[in-house]
Amino acid sequence: MKKFRIFPEPWRVKTVERIALLPREERLARLKAGDWNLFRLSARDVFIDLLTDSGTSAMSDAQWGALMQADESYAYARSWEHFEAAAVEVTGYAHILPVHQGRAAEHLLFGALLKKGDRVPSNNHFDTTRANIEALGAAALDLVIEEGRDPRRIHPFKGNMDVDKLESLLAGKPDRVPFCMLTVTNNTGGGQPVAMENIARVSGVCRRHGVPLFLDACRYAENAYFIKIRDERYGAVSIPKIAREMFAHADGCLFSAKKDGLANMGGFLAFRGAEHADAVRDALILQEGFPTYGGMSGRDLEAAAVGLKEAQDEEYLRFRIEQVRLFGEMLKENGAHILEPAGGHAVYLDALRMLPHLPQEALPAQALAVALYLEGGVRGVEIGSVMFARTDPKTGKPSLPPMELVRLAVPRRVYTNDHLAYTAEVAGEVMRLKERIPGFKITWEPPRLRHFTARLAPLRAMD
Ligand code: F0G
Repeated sequence: MKKFRIFPEPWRVKTVERIALLPREERLARLKAGDWNLFRLSARDVFIDLLTDSGTSAMSDAQWGALMQADESYAYARSWEHFEAAAVEVTGYAHILPVHQGRAAEHLLFGALLKKGDRVPSNNHFDTTRANIEALGAAALDLVIEEGRDPRRIHPFKGNMDVDKLESLLAGKPDRVPFCMLTVTNNTGGGQPVAMENIARVSGVCRRHGVPLFLDACRYAENAYFIKIRDERYGAVSIPKIAREMFAHADGCLFSAKKDGLANMGGFLAFRGAEHADAVRDALILQEGFPTYGGMSGRDLEAAAVGLKEAQDEEYLRFRIEQVRLFGEMLKENGAHILEPAGGHAVYLDALRMLPHLPQEALPAQALAVALYLEGGVRGVEIGSVMFARTDPKTGKPSLPPMELVRLAVPRRVYTNDHLAYTAEVAGEVMRLKERIPGFKITWEPPRLRHFTARLAPLRAMD
């Protein structure tokens, strides 16, 4: 298939869902009504929804079939057995605790292991991961390699952790670091993969200091595919085998089945040893449910059990990674600047380069996200100052994140290459109009995770 530019979907369409593009003046009205926060738009007013790849996958006929046969018994349902068996097979870990989604896993694990003043290193923490750590008075440290902080630098494994930084952190005060995390692929850093060698080295440092390592494994299958195509030692190794090797370097994982579980809801915590499972089980029962359903219905368990295996299908992964790569190429052909290289689940637009007339304080990534919706009904998500800037309590000045990005996340098995070609043209139109795009300011914000609900306003009237 190599000689063709487009690698087509390894499936055909069986059910379709109508989507519609509102007229431009109505899109402008919807933006105003939603206080210019794209999370506040009604989904029906969005034409191409690239807000997230989480929980937005299209299910296969096999998943729908399994769902119809779900067992909704409270304890030890047949569907739980299917789910548990799939999770054990994928991870190699013996202890599986179901949760309704990834952040519930974070909340349970961190609640059991963290205390005030602790520090938790990762390559990059995702926003809910960071917030769950900070909510307990602990610090979330991002130790991604230098290349991972520069949108222009090309590196095959830009999600790698800086092992020297980890070593010096642990050599100082390992007792203040109850565990280490590694996000595969690194969502906040551009959906970039982590090399097997890096996982092994991080694991080695952690083991030497007696610190457990947990993978934030939401997109582990995409990471495994990148290892297969970018590390020649793994070219002939199957995806399930690569994945098992990744998991073998860690002591457990947090997993949101809304990503590489190809499910609309669900997740799990998985551990090699019983002690970690024992530490969270009581809280799981209190907050999520009995340990054989954990906030999921039997239908959810069945869909995720099948989805977990489908996400390891190499033909599916090849299409997926190729589709996102092609999307990046089309965006660049239309004059957009992207974080290089394209990620596994998303292409990230580099707002500082696309809208150079806007200083970082004027929230350029927010301005770009709004412009994409206004010009083409496309919804992405701001991953920049709205999401990550913090006001320094001592100086009162904002500390700005290293990058201003708009993530265009590609839901799994949902959009065709034509949808993405259209989106690339919309980005081209935004580039033609760029001088007219104003900056933004925040007019109201909640104490944490402000990007979900903040209200904003353009610095100049928009028409
Ligand atoms: N970890 C990572 C790396 C994530 O990307 C997410 C969610 C979570 C944890 C939390 O999982 O949503 O099931 O509670 N990411 C979504 C996104 C929301 O849009 O990137 P969850």
